Amino acid sequence: MKIAPSLLSCDFSKMGEEIVRMDKSGADWMHLDVMDGHFVPNITFGAPVIKAVRRFSDRPFDVHLMISDPLKYAEDFIGAGADIITFHVECDSNINETIDIIRKNGVKAGLVIKPKTPASAVFPYLDKLDLVLIMTVEPGFGGQSFMEDMLPKAGEIRAECSRRGIDGMLIEVDGGISDKTIAKAAAAGIDVCVAGTAVFKAKDPAKAIAAMKAY
Ligand code: DX5
Ligand code: ZN
Repeated sequence: MKIAPSLLSCDFSKMGEEIVRMDKSGADWMHLDVMDGHFVPNITFGAPVIKAVRRFSDRPFDVHLMISDPLKYAEDFIGAGADIITFHVECDSNINETIDIIRKNGVKAGLVIKPKTPASAVFPYLDKLDLVLIMTVEPGFGGQSFMEDMLPKAGEIRAECSRRGIDGMLIEVDGGISDKTIAKAAAAGIDVCVAGTAVFKAKDPAKAIAAMKAY
């Protein structure tokens, strides 16, 4: 199981140092939540901030775009040094075009589904995806409760992939993950867990990450 700390819960006055702290604590990926105040009712940061903190770690940067028009900004996030870009299937952009532009630039592409969106919404795009991110909270804020009832979506996506002979699809979950909830995600066959509060509010993030990996 890979753990991707969400920088949404970090101290933004020293984001670079926070990334170093996560790197040293055993984080596998850095998860960066981009919110535009339109797709979700909150605003975070954009490509220039990601570009500025890129040099603080060699770990993959997993950029989660909660924005209405990811197609318009995809190249900015590619230029900022994203290794993985996920965007919402519920967005306003052309999904195929957005996936194509991400992959053409050698970046991994993923689609995200909100809690009310069925797993089948990503089926038309599975052939072109590296990853599917299942939201286990409503996107927009850290510190919410884990929605366990989202986990069966992982099985539905796996079943569709195997039916169509698609290998190696990564499935990630985001929201409410802690050492208390991660076992359920692991049992559902999740590859990557995003964790904000559970890592950043812990006294010792290395211990928190180790406890999650041990589930
Ligand atoms: C929510 C974000 C998450 C969030 C997770 O919209 O996508 O990445 O930071 O935070 P926790 O782990 O606190 O639920
Ligand atoms: Zn996220």
